[in-house]
Amino acid sequence: MTKDMAAELFVDLAEPGDVAAIAAIDSVAWSSGRGTDADEKEFLTRQANGGIFVTKTGEGRVVGYVSVFRPSWADPKALREIMTQCTDRIVGQTPEERWETLRNTYGLPLNWHEATGNGTPFTEKGLHNPGGKVIFGMAIITDPNYRGNRVVDETLSAALRASKQEGTEWFIAFSRLPSYRNFTQTNGETPVDRYLRAAVPSPEGMVPHDYGFRFHWRGGAQPVRTESGRIGYVGVRNVRYDDPESHNSGVFIMNPLEFGRFPFEKIVSQAGI
Ligand SMILES: CC(C)(COP(=O)(O)OP(=O)(O)OC[C@H]1O[C@@H](n2cnc3c(N)ncnc32)[C@H](O)[C@@H]1OP(=O)(O)O)[C@@H](O)C(=O)NCCC(=O)NCCS
Repeated sequence: MTKDMAAELFVDLAEPGDVAAIAAIDSVAWSSGRGTDADEKEFLTRQANGGIFVTKTGEGRVVGYVSVFRPSWADPKALREIMTQCTDRIVGQTPEERWETLRNTYGLPLNWHEATGNGTPFTEKGLHNPGGKVIFGMAIITDPNYRGNRVVDETLSAALRASKQEGTEWFIAFSRLPSYRNFTQTNGETPVDRYLRAAVPSPEGMVPHDYGFRFHWRGGAQPVRTESGRIGYVGVRNVRYDDPESHNSGVFIMNPLEFGRFPFEKIVSQAGI
């Protein structure tokens, strides 16, 4: 981000007057083949429930947003257990089997569609718990005209810090993997777990290969660890039905809002899940 642009951005909860701009960005955001995330009416419902953080320029132009809700199916204790005490038996399964085990054990949803009531958590009865300590990221988007400036990092980190200040304990999401299809076209078929260990060098050290995963990692997403020292991020297959760029796959983002970046070198060098 240029210094000038970084200095002038600010992030806040969306107001009703921001909704048209948010819907307009959403309608041009997706190159993946996937449809829009919501219509204007749904964005208004999300906004009315405090579920949208927007990033604006100094002139008040909306350039990015993240939409969230508080899933009634999420339990902070269960998330801590998955992150710190996942067993070798569980992580050693195929991604399909592992997600089945995790969701049967901890009451997690099958995929993004079930997690969010197809993007309508505030209208889907019982999915949103206003007092919940966990927020779920449904979508995070930068206006295509402002891409390439790390607006996404500003948006996510400000939303997470504001949420933490008001008592939220976890941020979770099914991050899409928009570079996955390209990666397999170059490198051949690659299981999602192996792909989540793919890294690229950068001035920050090794960082996740996939740019959809990378900003969550920067925001503090943590891997699971087992007693025997296996370590890795949990891939989920068929997390969306309409995302061919990601091979419909994603990574289960678990962010305990401690704002520490996990050294990605360890993901590359240690025994993986
Ligand atoms: C993902 C997204 C939010 C990033 O937007 P942004 O704020 O402009 O972020 P940047 O363009 O600065 O990109 C961040 C990083 O991704 C990389 N990147 C961005 N687009 C890329 C692409 N098409 N291919 C490869 N890398 C890409 C950038 O090089 C940058 O790398 P860095 O982390 O090493 O600096 C934006 O592309 C978007 O809105 N996409 C559509 C919606 C989406 O997929 N959201 C994510 C999950 S819901």
